[in-house]
Amino acid sequence: MYKKQNIWFAAAYCGITFLCVLLMSALPAGASSKENTFKPDQFIDPETCGACHDEIMAQWQGSMHNLSHKDPIYNRVAQFFRQGLTDAGQIEEAESCVKCHTPVGYITGFPKKLSDDLSQTGQIPAQGIQCDYCHTAVDVTRMYNNGLVLSPGQGEDDPGVKFGPFDDAEPDFHDAAFSKLHTDSKICGTCHDVKHAVFGTDLETTYTEWKNGPYNSPDPEKHVSCQGCHMYQRPGVPATGSTPRPANPGSAAADAKQRPHIFTHGFVGANSGVPEMFSAKDKSVMAVERLTHAADIFLVMIDSHTARVVVTNTGAGHSLPTGVGDLRQVWIEVTLTDSDGKAVFQTGVPDKNNELPENTVMFKTILGDGVGNPVINMAKAKEILSDTRIPVGKSAVHLFNLNTTPQKGYTLTARLMYRSMPQKILNQLPGEPLGPLPVVEMAAVRKEF
Ligand code: HEC
Ligand code: HEC
Ligand code: HEC
Ligand code: HEC
Ligand code: HEC
Repeated sequence: MYKKQNIWFAAAYCGITFLCVLLMSALPAGASSKENTFKPDQFIDPETCGACHDEIMAQWQGSMHNLSHKDPIYNRVAQFFRQGLTDAGQIEEAESCVKCHTPVGYITGFPKKLSDDLSQTGQIPAQGIQCDYCHTAVDVTRMYNNGLVLSPGQGEDDPGVKFGPFDDAEPDFHDAAFSKLHTDSKICGTCHDVKHAVFGTDLETTYTEWKNGPYNSPDPEKHVSCQGCHMYQRPGVPATGSTPRPANPGSAAADAKQRPHIFTHGFVGANSGVPEMFSAKDKSVMAVERLTHAADIFLVMIDSHTARVVVTNTGAGHSLPTGVGDLRQVWIEVTLTDSDGKAVFQTGVPDKNNELPENTVMFKTILGDGVGNPVINMAKAKEILSDTRIPVGKSAVHLFNLNTTPQKGYTLTARLMYRSMPQKILNQLPGEPLGPLPVVEMAAVRKEF
C-alpha cells in the first residue's frame, strides 16, 4: 500500500517542483505510477479463444508461458528463496515473482505476493501468461519488471479490442486492431529483463542483450525481433539465427482468410524438462531442436597435448545461455579415449550424483552479495560477480591440457552441453526430490588420431 501513497505524493509535487525527480527515483524498481488493477472476470479463459483460434491454442498449451505459474521448478525455487529472509529489501524481491509468473492474478488482486496461499489462485490466472493478457496490452511503461499497460474488455459478453499484427481483421466475437507494440521486441522485453525489485541488480537481461546485438539492426531486412525467431518455430523448423526462418502461411482462426504468415505460439526456449512433466512432448522436442541449432563447436590441437576448443553463439538472438543465467548450465565436455575406447582424459562429465566437477568450463553468471561473496538466492543479489556467457555471434576459446600425447587410434571428443539447473540446487529444495533434469547435447566435434 505504501507504494501507492508514494506515487500520489510524487504526482502531486511533480507539477510544481523538481522534487518529483528525487521522489520518483526513490520508488522501488518494481513500482510504476501506472500500475493497473482490474476485476478477475474481465479476463477471458484461453479455452474460449481456442474455440476459434484452435491451432494457436494448441501451440500455446504446454508452453512455458502457459506453465509460468504451475512450473514446479519455479515454484520450489521461489519458496526456497523466500525462506528465512529478514532484510526488507530481500523480502520484497522474494515476494515479487507473481508479477511475471502469474500476471493476470497480480493485476486482478490475487495473488499479489508469493507468500499468498497460491493454491487459492483462480482457474484463469493459474493458466499463466495467456491470450487475453498479451492481446489487451496497449503500452509499456518501462523495459524491465513487466511494465505492460493493459486495456482489457469486460469479459465474454463484451470482450473489447484484441490487439495484434493485422490492420484488416474483422472478427465477430471481439473487436480487433493493429498494434505496433505486438510486432516489436518490447512486448517481450519488458518481462524478459528482470531487475531486483529493490537493489536494482540485473537478474535477467535477455532484452538488453538482444537490443545491443546485431539482430536489432536499423536495416529492416536484417532486423530480427524476438518474434522473428521464437514465433516462427514449429516442429522441424527451429527458426534460429543459423537456420532458415520460413514464413508459416495459413489462417489465424477457423474460416478466416489465408495470410502469408501466422505467428506460432509455442514460445519455445531451452526448457525441455518442464513441458515434459506436463506431457507437452511437442514443446520439449522443439526445445531440443532449438538448442541443437544455437551454437557451433570446433576443436584443434595446438601442441602435442593441448586442445583448443572454440564455441560460437551462432543461433541465439541474445547471450548463450540467457534468462536465469545464474541457474542455467551450458558447459564443455572433453573426452580423450584410447584405441580400446577407454577414457584417458575427461572433463565436464556429471558424476553419479549428477553434479559437475568444480573445474568444468561453464558459461554462466554468478550473483554476489555486494561485498564479493557469491549468492545463489536472487533476493540477496546486489551485484554480478562474473558473466562468462557467450554474447550474440561471439566465440569463447578454451585450452584443455590433456596431460598426455594422443597416440594413433585415440579419439578426442568435445561436446557443448545444456541443463536448465544444477542438481546441487534441486537437492536443496524442500519437498519431494526433483530431477535429474534432461541434459541436451547442443553440438559436438570429434578428432581421430
Ligand atoms: C506472450 C504474449 C502472447 C501470448 C500469451 C499470446 N499471444 Fe498471440 N500474439 C502475440 C504477438 C506478439 C503476436 C504478433 C507477432 C508479431 O506480429 O510479430 C501474436 C499474434 C496473434 C494472432 C494473429 C495471428 C498470428 O498468429 O499471427 C492471433 C489470432 C493471436 N495471437 C491469438 C492468440 C491466442 C488465441 C492466444 C492464447 C491461446 C495467444 N495469442 C497468446 C503475443 C501473444
Ligand atoms: C468466435 C471466434 C473467435 C473467438 C472466440 C476469438 N477470436 Fe480472435 N479472431 C477471430 C477471427 C475470425 C479473427 C480474424 C482473423 C483474420 O482476419 O485473419 C480474429 C483475430 C484475432 C486477433 C488478431 C487481431 C489483429 O488485428 O491483429 C487477435 C490478437 C485475437 N483474435 C485474439 C483473440 C483472443 C485473445 C481471444 C480470446 C479472448 C479471441 N481472439 C477469441 C475469431 C475469434
Ligand atoms: C508477462 C511477462 C512476459 C511476457 C510479456 C513475455 N514473457 Fe516469455 N516468459 C515469461 C516467464 C515468466 C517465463 C518463464 C516461465 C517459467 O520458466 O516458469 C517465460 C518464458 C519464455 C520462454 C521459454 C524459456 C525457456 O527456458 O524455455 C520463451 C522462449 C519466451 N518466454 C519468449 C517470449 C517472447 C518471444 C515474448 C514476446 C512475444 C515473451 N516471451 C513475452 C514472461 C513473459
Ligand atoms: C536469432 C534468433 C533469436 C532471437 C532474435 C531471439 N532468440 Fe531467444 N533463443 C534463441 C535460441 C537459438 C535459443 C536457445 C539457446 C539459448 O538458450 O540461448 C533461445 C533461447 C531463449 C530463451 C531460453 C533461455 C534459457 O537458456 O533458459 C529465452 C527466455 C529467450 N530465448 C527469449 C528471447 C527474447 C525475449 C528475445 C527478444 C529480446 C529473443 N529470445 C530473441 C534464438 C533467438
Ligand atoms: C520481470 C519478470 C519476472 C519476475 C518478476 C520473476 N521472473 Fe522468473 N522468469 C522470468 C522469465 C522471463 C523467465 C524465463 C527465463 C529463462 O527461461 O531462462 C523466468 C524463469 C524463471 C525460472 C526458471 C524456471 C525453470 O523451469 O527452469 C525460475 C526458477 C524463476 N524464474 C524464479 C523466479 C523467482 C523465484 C522470482 C521471484 C523472486 C522470479 N522468478 C521473478 C521473469 C520473471
